[in-house]
Parts: sequence; structure tokens; C-alpha cells
Amino acid sequence: MPRIRATASRLFVPHQADRAQVRASREQFAAARSKARGAVPSRPRPSGKGADPELRAVYPAAGRPGPASARGGRLKLPAHRMTTATAAGAYPFLAEGGLGAEGLYIGRDVHAEAAFCYDPFVLYGRLEGFTNPNILLAGVIGMGKSALAKSLALRAVAHGYRVYVPCDPKGEWTAVSSTLGGRTIAVGPGLPGRLNPLDAPARPHGADEGDWAGEVRKRRLLLLASLARTVLKRDLRPMEHTALDVALDQVVAHTARTGRTPVLGDIAAVLADPDYLARVAGPTGGHLAGAAQDLAHALRRLIAGDLAGMFDAPSTVVFDPAAPMLTIDLSRLGGSGDDTALVLAMTCASAWMESALADPAGGRRWVIYDEAWRVMRHVALLERMQSQWKLSRGLGIANMMVVHRLSDLLTAGDAGSRSRALAEGLLTDCSTRIVYRQEPDQLTAAASLLGLTGVETQAVGALVKGRGLWKVAGRSFITQHLLHPTERDLFDTDARMQA
Ligand SMILES: Nc1ncnc2c1ncn2[C@@H]1O[C@H](COP(=O)(O)OP(=O)(O)O)[C@@H](O)[C@H]1O
Ligand SMILES: [Mg+2]
Repeated sequence: MPRIRATASRLFVPHQADRAQVRASREQFAAARSKARGAVPSRPRPSGKGADPELRAVYPAAGRPGPASARGGRLKLPAHRMTTATAAGAYPFLAEGGLGAEGLYIGRDVHAEAAFCYDPFVLYGRLEGFTNPNILLAGVIGMGKSALAKSLALRAVAHGYRVYVPCDPKGEWTAVSSTLGGRTIAVGPGLPGRLNPLDAPARPHGADEGDWAGEVRKRRLLLLASLARTVLKRDLRPMEHTALDVALDQVVAHTARTGRTPVLGDIAAVLADPDYLARVAGPTGGHLAGAAQDLAHALRRLIAGDLAGMFDAPSTVVFDPAAPMLTIDLSRLGGSGDDTALVLAMTCASAWMESALADPAGGRRWVIYDEAWRVMRHVALLERMQSQWKLSRGLGIANMMVVHRLSDLLTAGDAGSRSRALAEGLLTDCSTRIVYRQEPDQLTAAASLLGLTGVETQAVGALVKGRGLWKVAGRSFITQHLLHPTERDLFDTDARMQA
């Protein structure tokens, strides 16, 4: 139906007209106007049906009703003018120009009523202060953090990026990966999946053979030290580092002759053999054999303990650089409350994945650590994550870490400790911070860690599902993440609660 518009405008009254004429024309105008008003049938108000009930606006378009709207009209203040930059100090959500239309569509910018798009690779170098592509996502359970991460992954794949998920302790990425034609490796007791963390990555195009062998050796040593440290729950002593060095070199030389890839069992066997170590290590050999005892026992957990078989055999999958998505399902591990198995598995899995990601010519990639708070308390993993964070720009990788509370970063260790410093460093190296709702008692910690203003802090406490505060290199947006119905079905983690 065409929209009826009826208006009345004052007719031209000649300047020299006398009072009676002016009065008559004014009366004529008033009569015409009331007639015009009466002619327009009142339009029915939009019922709002059809819109997703979760996404419907809380207040009508005219704003909050009643006295709380502060529109009583009695307060009269002199107009005050200032620049937008100054005003933003008091109220950060001023009409924003937005981040542009390039990138992955996320949803709606709630304040600007505009589409919100984001792509760290597009923003890098274009936005002032956007120094790295890494992302921190924090929020209480059930607010849609995983849904956002999965949407980002799915839409990134549509844009030609590849996505890797080395940490999926709930196994909820498997469906996403299989829908996108990606692969999932499930590791756990009784499962057929095997990952050999000592797999050597393919030599990148153009890398010198000698240099690359050195790089592979360094990665393997780091891995072995992290595994030992996680089990022993202490830093390694200098002699223990040497023992690992010697054992690795022996095993690599031996397996190179037989043409196979070393496995953890080979290393443990050398460490557990004092005579052999003493012979190959030269003059310091005697002491070394003693120092290696703890290491041999630490590695035993991966070979004969509860993780037996998973990480000490040749990999059952080869890394497929062409697959759009690869996830490692760790949901069968760590259910007993002891996170050590999960951490060891994650160390091995991430080492395996990182070595495959080390190729700078591998294209732009996303690496997502879902439920990363579970591994934040372990220095060995924090160190791995930190090195990935530092390498992100060089390798063309955007890392994303999902935590519950910002204080998860603070519980990584005591103030001044190494793990605390590592966790805080991860936060510093995230140019994008997305904050979903935080519990009231967490707001102060979040505000001080992220430097939120009072208005932002208040906003974070009142966010609803799918809605988050996006701090992108100092700029603030409140964004409603919108899910396609197919995505909603695919990402649903509430199904069992509703059934
Ligand atoms: N933006 C959204 N719109 C509608 N439903 C959503 C949205 N984000 C998440 N959900 C739903 O909310 C539920 C919980 O989300 P999930 O991502 O698992 O939460 P979290 O990872 O924060 O614990 C899921 O079933 C998901 O489908
Ligand atoms: Mg989740």
C-alpha cells in the first residue's frame, strides 16, 4: 500500500497585507493543517514480529521511556562544545566511522546501527596502534564465545583462510570441521589417533638444509624440555638440559641411519640407560647419567603411563596443508580433574601442529585456542603460546585465545612470577580484545587489565548473549554477533539442556 502523506504549509502572505488579511490566512492555514492531520490514517505500529526475540531492541527507537530518559526538558544548561576526541574520553561510543566494510561479517554495531566487519589481516598496517593480528576473547560460560570463534573460523574459510584448532578440550569443533571438509584428530585412551610430536616439518621452500636441521633440533629440544617440566612441575637443571641434548642427538643420528622418524620412546630409552649415556657424553658422562634419571621417569608417563601410545608412535595422519580446517579433539583427556594429561597432550599436539605451521609460505591462517583458560596455569604451554604470538606476523597467523575471566590471566602465577609475566605478555600482544559479559565481581579486574572506562565497564556488566565489547586497537564497539540459522544449528551447545 502506498504511504499516504498529507501536509499543509503556510501560504505566501504579501508583505503589505493588512492585519485582517494576515489573520484570515493564518486561520485558513490552521484549518487546512487540522484537515490534513485528520486525512492521514494512523499507521499501525510495527509489532517487531519476525525479529529474533534475543536480538530485539530493549527500548523503542525513541530511547528509554519515562523520567529515566532525562528528557524532562526542565534542565537548561548552556551549550558546551568540544571535539569528538575530547568527548570520547568521557563517553567512548560516539558515532564511529567503523572499521570499514572489508573483512568477515560479524554482525551489527549496536551503537552505529551498522554492519560490523572485522579481519585482522586487513586492519594490520591500516589502523593506528593495530600492531598484531592476535585476539583475546573473554566472557562467562554460555554467552556465545565459542559460537563467535566458530563463526569467525567458518567465515574465514569462506575468505580463503585456513583454520587450526590445537586446543579443543570439549570436542565441540569436530562438527564444524567436518562440515567444512576439514579434519579432526581425536586423541585419548583407546582411540586410534596417534601424533608424533617429534615429526620434522617439511623444509620451507628456499630454506637452507643445515639451517633447517638446526631449527628442527631446537623445536624438538624445546618440546622435550616442556614435557619434562610439566611432569616434574619444576624448571630443568642445566645438566638435565644437556642430557636431553645428548639423547636427542644420539637418537636422531641413529634413526637417520635406519631412515625412520624418532619417537619419544627412543629418547626415553637413551635417558634410562646410564652406561650408554656415560659412553656417548664423554668426560662429564658419569654425572649426566645421574641427572637424566628424573627425565627418564618424566617421559615414562607418555610412554607407559596413562598417555601410553598416543604420542610415542609414528603419526597416523599427515599434516594436510590444503585442508581448510584441522582440529585436535582432546575431550577424552583430563576428565579426571588432573589437567596434566591434557597439558601434555596439548603440548605434543601443538608442537606437531606448530611445526607444520612454520612454513611462512603457508598462506594466512587462524589458530584458535578454545577454553584456553584450562592451560593458562602451565608455564610450558604459556611459553609455547607466547612464541606463537611473537611469530604471528612473520608467519601470517592470527592467534585467538578464549578465556572465561580476565583474571584467568592473573591466576597463571603470583605477581612477579614468570607465568604471570607470560600471561600478561599474551594480553599485551593482543591488539583485539573482545569482552563478553563478566560477572560483577570480575568487572574491576577486567577494567584495570584492559584499561576500560567507567562507561565501558558498565556496558560489559550488562551484555546479553552474543553481544560483546570489541576493543580494536583502542577503539570501542559494542557488537551483536549474528548467526545464520545453519550456523546456529551447527554451533548449538545448549541442545542437551533443552532436549
Ligand atoms: N549470537 C548468538 N545468537 C544466538 N544464539 C547464540 C549466539 N551466540 C551463541 N548462541 C548460542 O548460545 C549457546 C552457548 O554458546 P557457546 O558459544 O557455546 O557459549 P560459550 O562458549 O561462551 O560457553 C549455543 O547454543 C549457541 O548456539
Ligand atoms: Mg565455549
